[in-house]
Amino acid sequence: MKEILTVKDLDLTFDTLDGPVNVLRGVSLSVREHERVALVGESGSGKSVTARAILGLLPERNRRLNGSVVFEGSDLVTERPSRLRERRGRDMTMIFQDPMAALNPVYTIRNQFLAVLSRSHPELNAKQAEARMSDALRDVSIIDPTRVLDSYSFQLSGGLNQRVMIAMGLISRPRLLIADEPGTALDVTVQQQTLLIMKRLSESYGTSILFISHNLGVVRQFADRVCVMYSGRIVEEATTAELFANPRHPYTRALLASVPRLSSDELPEPIEGSVPDPREPIKGCPFKPRCALATDDCLQPIPLREFGTQRVACIHQEEFA
Ligand SMILES: Nc1ncnc2c1ncn2[C@@H]1O[C@H](COP(=O)(O)OP(=O)(O)OP(=O)(O)O)[C@@H](O)[C@H]1O
Ligand SMILES: [Mg+2]
Repeated sequence: MKEILTVKDLDLTFDTLDGPVNVLRGVSLSVREHERVALVGESGSGKSVTARAILGLLPERNRRLNGSVVFEGSDLVTERPSRLRERRGRDMTMIFQDPMAALNPVYTIRNQFLAVLSRSHPELNAKQAEARMSDALRDVSIIDPTRVLDSYSFQLSGGLNQRVMIAMGLISRPRLLIADEPGTALDVTVQQQTLLIMKRLSESYGTSILFISHNLGVVRQFADRVCVMYSGRIVEEATTAELFANPRHPYTRALLASVPRLSSDELPEPIEGSVPDPREPIKGCPFKPRCALATDDCLQPIPLREFGTQRVACIHQEEFA
């Protein structure tokens, strides 16, 4: 399947009052047509920053971004800001973690939809726009679209707001949707529903999804492929089935062992130690200080190597097999 998004060697440094902070250290990943890709990793590993860099939503100042983000053939890192704004909201859209924070309490849901539609579909007249909004809300299983359109976000439940966000993210039928931990601000059932709706819609509209999550259970149900991120790098990439059946990177293994499983009596094991300080330079493998297999050889640069369809950045991974 054709790649619609190809991120290559993305490197990002913020210049802070404490000095430079190197948060992305050569991130490469791709999303193909009709594919749902999950980006997982501990807090602070750089998932949200990667999503923002892809969409051109990083702060303008005090940051250095290198590498390329090729979306449908053009490099977004060097794209004109006006052109990028146009594509964002039409060809690629984003859903954030907390719908209440993302929706504006001052405007009705209808007015917020209209703002989105006027950018993505300026050709629609008022009646067509109304029909389009109602359809988008019915798509996310909202049975009374008019009432929801007339409401303000604070009048709706968290679950309903989350569905409104999905409808807004998909109303332009984007080629790519980036969802940063959608629904984690809400309860587990709502999060599950959110994902099922997104999965169904991505299938019917052929929208590719890059999906960020902490929750490996959710990832397993939802994603076709998984990229595991650690300390600003991708350390493993595999199909979902392969990753869960045969995790190769020691960090991936530790991450899988750290989640409780209903089907087993084994207690989850937290990963000892903490992620490296992004202000410090890292030599070789960033997971070395926490890894049982680490040797001096891990201090060299460790590229991703291919094992069948899996890609792994670990020189010791054969020792697992
Ligand atoms: N504007 C900024 N200036 C300086 N540092 C930043 C900025 N934005 C993010 N960072 C740093 O970048 C690193 C990665 O942050 P990011 O939000 O991408 O992590 P994450 O993987 O999304 O974590 P979480 O799972 O908690 O959402 C963190 O160390 C964070 O402090
Ligand atoms: Mg985040």
